Amino acid sequence: MTRVQQESCAFMRCQLIYVNESQQIQIESLKALIAEHKLPIVLETEQSIEKLTQKRRQQLSQTSTQPILLLDDKNALSWLSNGLSVAPEWDKLQRRIVSAGRKSELLLQAAKITSDSKVIDATAGFGHDSLILASTGAQVVMLEQQPLMAMLLLVEQQRMSTVANWQKLMSRLQIIYTDALSYFASVNSAPISESNRAVDVVYLDPMFPEDSYQDSKTGKGAKVGKHMQALHQLAHPPTLDEEKQLLQSALAVVGYNEQTSGRVVVKRPQFAPQLAHQSPNECWHNEAVRFDGYFVS
Ligand SMILES: C[S@@+](CC[C@H](N)C(=O)[O-])C[C@H]1O[C@@H](n2cnc3c(N)ncnc32)[C@H](O)[C@@H]1O
Repeated sequence: MTRVQQESCAFMRCQLIYVNESQQIQIESLKALIAEHKLPIVLETEQSIEKLTQKRRQQLSQTSTQPILLLDDKNALSWLSNGLSVAPEWDKLQRRIVSAGRKSELLLQAAKITSDSKVIDATAGFGHDSLILASTGAQVVMLEQQPLMAMLLLVEQQRMSTVANWQKLMSRLQIIYTDALSYFASVNSAPISESNRAVDVVYLDPMFPEDSYQDSKTGKGAKVGKHMQALHQLAHPPTLDEEKQLLQSALAVVGYNEQTSGRVVVKRPQFAPQLAHQSPNECWHNEAVRFDGYFVS
């Protein structure tokens, strides 16, 4: 699998391939979003003269060293990763979101949030878990350190905010391009006020090595979905030291302001070691994943 190359100056050059001249408006709006959120991304735009068939997508993926973005004829933006178009595709979660509850979602059993809760999803990725958390009515701050991922999230939020029955959910999400540790440091040093409410839950789903996904029946490597495959091109699993920092500062965030109770919830593959080798207070698991809960009281 090819890893996405990022320049040492930390600006990421992305090739944006679009399909017709009338898409200049969408391109300008994308550039405005990048500027507004200070994403270190430079777009190099190019109109495709060929049809974007699967074969063409494969070719493009194989020949380019920089990330490729596609703006298709329906103005949907995706990232071309290993020949496959990947995007948050939040609309595909509609059924799960509508029926999400503690019975059906292990994450909600572990997070135990209500509509009054404030949650930080410190490793937002494609935002799928954030949506489940926000389906409860809770406010969710989504942190993402990879500019490309942050951009895909912001574009998806903008797109879904135009759909009437998604607007309330969208208004509960705040997407921030940042490293979680810097964000936690700023939360822990800021005075608590009306506008800066105490955090009830911090959710962590850091990357884990690609070979740690195991099929619980065979014990062998499990197939990884296209979203996770794509993420592995961009983001690395944390070192043990980084895991310790992440967990400690997340615990400090929920322990801040001496609120009655707060928790950090960590997602792991079912058989993966605990984050920072620290034992949780409680675990919830199914055949594929485990949620470890660390409580602060
Ligand atoms: C396993 S994915 C999360 C998937 C996500 N739960 C979802 O539902 O799509 C991990 C994501 O967290 C991001 N990440 C990892 N460490 C981070 C950090 N310290 N600060 C912010 N984002 C981080 C990675 O860039 C990656 O996008």
